Amino acid sequence: EEQERITVDYVKGILQPTPTCEVWDQIWNFQAKPDDLLISTYPKAGTTWAQEIVDLIQNNGDIEKSKRAPIHVRIPFIEWVHPAIGSGLEKANALPSPRTLKTHLPIDLLPPSFLEKNCKIIYVARNPKDNMVSYYHFHRMNKALPHPGTWEEYFESFLAGKVCWGSWYDHVKGWWKAKDQHRILYLFYEDMKKNPKDEIQKLAKFIGNNLDDEVLDRIVHHTSFDVMKLNPMANYSLVPVEIMNHSISPFMRKGSVGDWKNYFTVAQNERFDEDYKKNMEDTSLSFQFQ
Ligand code: PPS
Repeated sequence: EEQERITVDYVKGILQPTPTCEVWDQIWNFQAKPDDLLISTYPKAGTTWAQEIVDLIQNNGDIEKSKRAPIHVRIPFIEWVHPAIGSGLEKANALPSPRTLKTHLPIDLLPPSFLEKNCKIIYVARNPKDNMVSYYHFHRMNKALPHPGTWEEYFESFLAGKVCWGSWYDHVKGWWKAKDQHRILYLFYEDMKKNPKDEIQKLAKFIGNNLDDEVLDRIVHHTSFDVMKLNPMANYSLVPVEIMNHSISPFMRKGSVGDWKNYFTVAQNERFDEDYKKNMEDTSLSFQFQ
């Protein structure tokens, strides 16, 4: 099983799938346009959810329009290259403006033109315990990532930052620090769960679309976990099974806050909390774990 998987290598200090490493200079030199909107996240923080919400906001809640193509086609993932799926850069370059794009890159590795052109950027962060559990299951079902090993092994890799797109800490803190100098709206998965309507309203204001209350309610409903899980244009079920095998673990897995409690042992939790405290000393950013 492991032989069929893509290997990873370091790009500028973070692990990346090898096809991405090969075109790294092209990714770095990507030319953003001033009206590009970028959705940036650490993997498994709520990217797809934010993508679906943004696409609906841009189409004033038109559900049929949001079903014109799978989410990864509507909103290309710029640094992703896969032999069977193609190049995110090529997909982005083929899109008419205004474009909405996705990235998982830490701020230091973001193609500089996004900040030079003062693009609007939406960042979504998720508490690291649930983020880790979600990422672990994604590794299991997705052959375009290395095998995660056992849960115990994966726990160690995550803490050491030896996972694709690098350390969770560096990612969330780097983007947090950048948010005051740039047009970045920084959101939290836990807030979106607790009060989706308020967070969607925030997104709409940031994007610059005024939505009627009725449209807002429609977007809340259509982007709820239960509805998105059944939507083939949002749940990644159209990706070939050779890459994503949803019978191992569905892409739309649980969509909840606090699932980490089903995975972390007491000892792991203690270690994690200690590590978290140490790594979060130098930031005003904090997370809800419940
Ligand atoms: S990826 O591969 O990085 O783009 O994945 P990403 O979309 O960031 O994260 C997937 C997790 O987000 C959950 N999800 C949702 N939660 C709540 N509501 C909605 N609508 C929603 N859509 C996706 C998805 O279930 C994954 O989390 P887990 O905890 O694994 O269920």
